[in-house]
Amino acid sequence: MCSCGEGIKDLRYTALEKMLENYQHCPEKIIPVLQETQGIFGYIPAAAIQQISNALDMPSSEIFGVVTFYGQFHLQARGKNIIRICSGTACHVRGGGQVLDAIVKGLGLMNGRTTTEDLMFTLEPVACLGACGMAPVIMINDDTYGRISPQEVPAILAHYKEKEGGQVWVA
Ligand code: FES
Repeated sequence: MCSCGEGIKDLRYTALEKMLENYQHCPEKIIPVLQETQGIFGYIPAAAIQQISNALDMPSSEIFGVVTFYGQFHLQARGKNIIRICSGTACHVRGGGQVLDAIVKGLGLMNGRTTTEDLMFTLEPVACLGACGMAPVIMINDDTYGRISPQEVPAILAHYKEKEGGQVWVA
């Protein structure tokens, strides 16, 4: 089997086509269509927007406007595991910056990238996670880690890589 990912891509576009058969000429269904599209791809690819435009009879510029308006939709591929790191004041003064550095290093993120090449992780800074008393705080998916140190980061990341059966990258 080809390892370039094209086979998977084709299957996803086939699934998109099939889903869109249920929404022909229904621009009022744009939100559920985008939700289902994101369910298929993990994000909303530009090529999918064109297909949705054709099926729903809705200009692609309007679809793009909807996608960018709602925070639930993403135009870029995201990792299976979403790491939210707090950049709020309490976390910052208690070493959040060093924790961030350890995560960036542990994931091998270079040149400002926020998603790993294997699509295992996406790193997202947030203003406050609402757990300032536990600063510095990160969340991975629905799990919260408070009062963490940079030294703990490799083991935490390894836990999620092991869950997926992936290769553990240790800094
Ligand atoms: S400042 Fe980090 S959780 Fe509030």
